[in-house]
Amino acid sequence: MCGIVGYIGVEQAGPFLLDSLEKLEYRGYDSSGVCLNTGSELVVKKAKGKLEVLKQMTDSGKSLNGTVGIGHTRWATHGEPSDVNAHPHLSESGRFAVVHNGIIENYQELKDYLTSKGIVFRSETDTEVIAQLIEYYYKGDMIDTIIRVLGKLDGSYALGVITIESPDEIIAVRKESPLIIGLGNNENYIASDVTAILSKTKKICRLENNEIAILKKDSVRIVNLDREEIHKEAEIVSWDISSAQKGGYEHFMFKEIMEQPKAISETITPRIKNGRVVLDEISLSDDDIKKFNKINVLACGSAYHVGVVAKYIFEKMLRIPVEADLASEFRYRDPIVNDKTLTIVISQSGETADTKEAMKEARRRGSHIISIVNVVGSAIAVESNDVIYTWAGPEIAVATTKAYSTQLSVIYLIALYFGEKLGRIPAAEYKALVNELEQLPRKITQVLECKERVQYLASKYFNSKDIFFIGRNIDYALSLEGSLKLKEISYIHSEAYAAGELKHGTISLIEDGTPVIALATHEELIPKMVSNIEEVNTRGAQVICIACDDHPELKKLGETIFIPKVCDMLLPSLAVIPLQLFAYYIASLKGCDIDKPRNLAKSVTVE
Ligand code: F6R
Repeated sequence: MCGIVGYIGVEQAGPFLLDSLEKLEYRGYDSSGVCLNTGSELVVKKAKGKLEVLKQMTDSGKSLNGTVGIGHTRWATHGEPSDVNAHPHLSESGRFAVVHNGIIENYQELKDYLTSKGIVFRSETDTEVIAQLIEYYYKGDMIDTIIRVLGKLDGSYALGVITIESPDEIIAVRKESPLIIGLGNNENYIASDVTAILSKTKKICRLENNEIAILKKDSVRIVNLDREEIHKEAEIVSWDISSAQKGGYEHFMFKEIMEQPKAISETITPRIKNGRVVLDEISLSDDDIKKFNKINVLACGSAYHVGVVAKYIFEKMLRIPVEADLASEFRYRDPIVNDKTLTIVISQSGETADTKEAMKEARRRGSHIISIVNVVGSAIAVESNDVIYTWAGPEIAVATTKAYSTQLSVIYLIALYFGEKLGRIPAAEYKALVNELEQLPRKITQVLECKERVQYLASKYFNSKDIFFIGRNIDYALSLEGSLKLKEISYIHSEAYAAGELKHGTISLIEDGTPVIALATHEELIPKMVSNIEEVNTRGAQVICIACDDHPELKKLGETIFIPKVCDMLLPSLAVIPLQLFAYYIASLKGCDIDKPRNLAKSVTVE
């Protein structure tokens, strides 16, 4: 959702701000804006709609004057998407400008108070309250003012503030929403997301809750709410600038699909040593692991679908009951969770509001939290007991692919690690599984070769009104992911059903020509799947079947895509590839905005 950038240095700030706002577009937004400090006034340019509008308005930032500035991409929460509600927001006199990510929960109360003091508001946003409060409380010292204002705010925020009262600085502060400081040579930056500043620097500091940073062009000071100085070591980001660029591909989504072998290799290789899975990140002793009588997996969207796969894998291999829960539902159902429950939280961004809150709920109830997160230092990573990072690199396309796949590979690692500790996997089987896991990136590279065939199939069905996905067991979990991927980027209506459920109602939706993607990767379930495919075939469905190797029986029933045979545990990692490609090619043939589908944001930081 919303994105923040800021620059202070010796160059003109405008072109950098516009360029880095473009890097944040993937997060999802409906308006954008910048504010530059000319030294004598704050000049704001902002506009509803695509960043292109702001670019044209400012000649890509070149027509703006000033070496200090802040910028923002807004996802509307309080007040409709409009020019006036776009950030930055100015105080009444125009001396203070603010960009804000997050939500101020008590903004109405604060607005009423300031209005009663005669202050006139221009926008409907919660953010304007912050700019007005700063001006209201300002008595000559910005840090004192910010501390006073923060004391009035309830909610979450990352803020960038500039003022003509001290034109050579940017103030940055955060609570619950992420904000980083980029360190350059005679220039410094703020950003909500490291991808915004990767073109300038890889040297960063992460702000913690309630830390206030005062950036000048040649220094960064950080203080806490008691004005005590905080010293932070800078860290060097491992992500490379090329990972945040398309690198010759038409879309980030396609690039990220193709990057999956590398991402999985980087996630699993350092964690397999001498044929054993070693998860140094897990702080649980063997006795701790033995005491769990239940595993909860909490996540949203595709990450939740990984959780559904995990349920099948953990229950089969560990013989521990598993509940995969939508984080947004978990919080409101008084879940049965205690210190004998292990909670696994899955999130690419590490910032998803529902997932974060569900995690806190589980923790409050005594559960040990292991998170699987892609963004280093994100809130979920920091607030869980143990974090296992997926080394997928930055994922820019809104529709997740490589993050999903690396999350799956961490599930395999956990299954093997716990399986060994619990003594539930015979030694020979364990050895074979680890060996196959090490081969997984190579097998995925092989599966990616099906892309031309998938493109051909997509060309047959891209005009369809509805497309269904069916499967049993883990293939049902995969159907959920295939269906979500398709609908989110191609806008075709799609549903996923457990194949055995069809005849309990949903088969009535099948009519002449309805495409049905049938997943039949598990040998022992093929006879059942064949019956289900025949059921839909006789009602006129056009079936595309995804199965292992050349299965003659399935070939007779419709189109087929075959993946290589691997052990059951790893099948989802191969079978998901044609599903991702199918969604991609359909969306491409329909001319959709693949990387930034309508109404969607990359990280969903509101509940
Ligand atoms: C779908 C997709 C979303 C995310 C979901 C959770 O392609 O990307 O469904 O999986 O919004 O996001 P994270 O993983 O950041 O918590």
